[in-house]
Amino acid sequence: MTSSDIPVIAIDGPTASGKGTVAQRVAKTLGFHYLDSGALYRLVALSALRRNTPLSDEDALADLAGKLPCTFDGEKILLAEEDVSNALRAEEVGNAASRIAALPTVRQALSELQLRFRKLPGLVADGRDMGTVIFPQADLKVFLTASVAARAQRRYKQLIEKGFSANMHDLLKDLAERDARDVNRAVAPLKPAEDAYLLDTSDMTADQAVEQVLQWYAALKK
Ligand code: DC
Repeated sequence: MTSSDIPVIAIDGPTASGKGTVAQRVAKTLGFHYLDSGALYRLVALSALRRNTPLSDEDALADLAGKLPCTFDGEKILLAEEDVSNALRAEEVGNAASRIAALPTVRQALSELQLRFRKLPGLVADGRDMGTVIFPQADLKVFLTASVAARAQRRYKQLIEKGFSANMHDLLKDLAERDARDVNRAVAPLKPAEDAYLLDTSDMTADQAVEQVLQWYAALKK
């Protein structure tokens, strides 16, 4: 068996579209592994911010990305020995991640790391380019969207729950800026794969979205 025989479900979409929650639940239901690819960009961003590495220094950032001492332990993400799961969710880190993600050599350095998550019995991978670049042969590709207002609401709730302060006005501005950067970058821009199923979750609960993805997958496997 080669790695291309291991099933992959790719779930892409803009920031705060709910793809993380949906991807994790789909993975849990199917007993598959889960890759939060955004966390890798966030890990590089957090390391860079802590070392005062300029976000314009592509060589230094690619070097950081190539040597990330990270471990994914269930829901915990460790950088070296430190649990950084919460620190990674800060808006400052997300914004830096979105800037770093535009750098081709950083994307290249993280690409091999992402492919290593493809293990039996299968993988659910979420991000921006899972279906277009990293796993173009994925068995199922889903592109999740939601209105800016719905996404800002979700991000607000997520931040407050994690103990961060949040302001709706700033969040809406951040989301719009991040969308523009993710969609307009030259390398691996955020866009649905041609063969992706589109799912607008603005008026859906997470459970409904999970159910839809599971139905699509079951239909493909028939
Ligand atoms: O999904 P997220 O908000 O945790 O991702 C943080 C940033 O990382 C996002 O603004 C763009 C970037 N990213 C990317 O370019 N490609 C991915 N596969 C995942 C994330």
